[in-house]
Amino acid sequence: MSQNLNPKNIQISGKLLRWYDQHARELPWRVSPTARKGGIRPDPYHVWLSEIMLQQTTVVTVGPYFQTFLQRWPTVQMLASAPGAEVMGEWAGLGYYARARNLLKCARVITQEYGGSFPKTETDLLNLPGIGPYTAAAIAAIAYDLPTTVLDGNVERVMARLFEVSDPLPDSKPTLRAHAASQTPTKRPGDYAQAVMDLGATICTPRSPSCTQCPITVSCKSLASGTAANLPKKRPKPVKPTRSGVVYFAYTLEGHVLLETRPDKGLLGGMLALPSTDWTVEQPNAAPPIEAEWQNLPEIVRHVFTHFNLNLTVAVAKLPKNAAPMRGQFTPAPDPKTLPTVMRKAYLMAASTTGLD
Ligand code: ADE
Repeated sequence: MSQNLNPKNIQISGKLLRWYDQHARELPWRVSPTARKGGIRPDPYHVWLSEIMLQQTTVVTVGPYFQTFLQRWPTVQMLASAPGAEVMGEWAGLGYYARARNLLKCARVITQEYGGSFPKTETDLLNLPGIGPYTAAAIAAIAYDLPTTVLDGNVERVMARLFEVSDPLPDSKPTLRAHAASQTPTKRPGDYAQAVMDLGATICTPRSPSCTQCPITVSCKSLASGTAANLPKKRPKPVKPTRSGVVYFAYTLEGHVLLETRPDKGLLGGMLALPSTDWTVEQPNAAPPIEAEWQNLPEIVRHVFTHFNLNLTVAVAKLPKNAAPMRGQFTPAPDPKTLPTVMRKAYLMAASTTGLD
């Protein structure tokens, strides 16, 4: 670490670890600092699963999904032998479905090429499907106590404030990474990684940080100059466009519904879904999956994706049992929980107006 980047020789790990010993959050995938001191290490499978689920998703949302996955697939080998459709069905509602496709690929690589044990270095972890720099560093630190630099949004915010980095993200990322690296201790790096993330999640929060509760205020440059709440700065986000489309709810007297599995590539890839047009800013190219007397529901379904807002018209038609669709298959009414959220909204709206719910 150059003197320039850390002129006051800031070193937070000692204080942060003492704070963590008292205030660590109890999380379903976490081994407490007390248990870790007693020599207990978390199962790398649990660490990996939780870290993949926690990307772009809150601790509260992840909790029940994590428990369900572990109940259904207690080991990585069991997950590896699960049918893809079942894994995608359990992931439904968590969003960012490429994570689930890569989860299964990764479980299969670990089972087939690594004998069912996760590799033990950051570099080997990085080679696995769906494991990027953050996840490789987090698994190496938390599961194997290696002194890696774990940099997620929480850690970026803590570093930006501690060192008063006022360049906006994402350009400031390399500087923030260097600051984070300068703080990683060789003692208890796994607890330290979790401690910085907990500090960012509970005290050094985005809008109104609780600086009076913070264990490292004496080192914090932005607290001293009164800029903490305004950091990190971010490059303004482009305005989200609104796209629209039509989603088709075809059902039979027997209570079957026309469903399809979306292609692996693209949005909601690999997920079970109602057939839909493309989602476009211009008028969508409306090609129903089967000829029928389609009726549009009076209300539309709205959904927010990362890069666009979506307005979906829901078209409904009743068909005879032996109707032959151009796409998809008539299927006994699914559990709506197995559909991705936008499709669940459309399904529930259509099912309640047709009496299928
Ligand atoms: N956010 C993502 N992973 C986390 C972890 N292991 N501990 C605390 N917060 C997290």
